[in-house]
Amino acid sequence: MINKCLFPAAGYGTRFLPATKAVPKEMLPILNKPLLQYGVEEALSAGINNMAIVTGRGKRAIEDHFDNASELESQLRGTSKEHYLDDIKSVIEKSTFTYIRQTQMLGLGHAILTGETLIGEEPFAVILADDLCIDGDINLLSKMIKIYEKYQCSVIAIEEIPFTQTEKYGVISGDLIDGTNDTYRVTNMFEKPKSHDLIEFVEDRVNPNYASSFMAIAGRYILTPDIFDILKKIKPGKNGEIQITDALLFQANQGKVIAYKFKGKRFDCGSVEGYIKAINYFAKKQELLK
Ligand code: UTP
Repeated sequence: MINKCLFPAAGYGTRFLPATKAVPKEMLPILNKPLLQYGVEEALSAGINNMAIVTGRGKRAIEDHFDNASELESQLRGTSKEHYLDDIKSVIEKSTFTYIRQTQMLGLGHAILTGETLIGEEPFAVILADDLCIDGDINLLSKMIKIYEKYQCSVIAIEEIPFTQTEKYGVISGDLIDGTNDTYRVTNMFEKPKSHDLIEFVEDRVNPNYASSFMAIAGRYILTPDIFDILKKIKPGKNGEIQITDALLFQANQGKVIAYKFKGKRFDCGSVEGYIKAINYFAKKQELLK
């Protein structure tokens, strides 16, 4: 069983400055709902109620969002506007939130390690809320939990990306697991590689169309708790940060990382371009755009 979901949300969000100078990136809205609430709702619909959030300086809006607002509630009670609070109140009722602050932003791996005291010795999910994932009818995290239950090791979500964009992502190679067409045992991982450094991928078995695309890690993980000890041991990697990709590579070398190629859409809402695409997608879905 996966009982807890960790949300690393301490990053500076530099690609979205100046908006993220005082507003946490994870609180940027897609229509009227902040990114982090989409993530929490995804965890809830995968059966997880325990939300462990790694925050940092200037991120108090996150805690306030997932708390009661008695003054506002009593102001709206009995008025025609009361229903505007229904969704968030239901999320708060169903979830337990715990928080810890990352005091130095030393990378995603370090943020995950900071969450260790909230997670303990159990497998857990990780959602990067700025990576908004829509997986058709099936909830992506639920699908990944099923894969975890079968293979009992770490599971990552992957998607195809253009050859020209490898420098933005963790890129993987792996072997398709017999009897599936979307599940791979990971054999190698690279953090934000230059595409011309990926010559080895010519032999890549994940993606026969290697010339035009690669497989990149999306912001959803199921991690086994041994990841914490690995994170404590590894040295800073790309950009001097503690990289989760380096820790996962350690597990992958023991055959203990499965990658699931999901079929839905992913919006990188940490970039202005991805954010606009996400807003357009949801606005069209709700028929707000003609
Ligand atoms: P990103 O690299 O997308 O976030 O990390 P960032 O560093 O805030 O973005 P830019 O590059 O400066 O624009 C992915 C996730 O990991 C969290 C971020 O908050 C984001 O949700 N993160 C990253 C941390 O919690 N701590 C860190 O030290 C780094």
